[in-house]
Amino acid sequence: MLIDKNNLPLVDAEFMNNTHFEDVDLINKIYENIEIFEKNNSNENFENLKSIYEEWINHTVKHFLTEEEEMQKRGFFAYPFHKGEHDRNIEDIKAVWIDFEENRDIEALKNYIEYDLINWLVNHIRSMDTVTARFFNTGMSPCSMM
Ligand SMILES: [Fe+2]
Ligand SMILES: [Fe+2]
Repeated sequence: MLIDKNNLPLVDAEFMNNTHFEDVDLINKIYENIEIFEKNNSNENFENLKSIYEEWINHTVKHFLTEEEEMQKRGFFAYPFHKGEHDRNIEDIKAVWIDFEENRDIEALKNYIEYDLINWLVNHIRSMDTVTARFFNTGMSPCSMM
């Protein structure tokens, strides 16, 4: 297991926490499949890794879209910043896979998932998602509470 759900920061919106738990399940599955591919880079293992990675991309697209729709509905002030982080992350996730398909460099993929992606996710939840969920819950931004 790469990341324990219990170590994930929680936000003030249950629907967001649930999505993050599902996200972590998929990331852990990807990591398992990366370790399997490291030991045996067969076509079958490649296809398994590819299908879980695709499932994760689809889940992430939906994850981000749901947050963005809710932000727009409620007129969240930092929507463009939050969406900007989502857009850049989705581009990275897709670019990393295209690179892996071309080069089959499993260490590069592993590094991305293990360090860059996990750091991105935890930081994003601690910052953007936390402030956004608080706004959903109270209608206030952290600044207006000071
Ligand atoms: Fe999120
Ligand atoms: Fe987000």
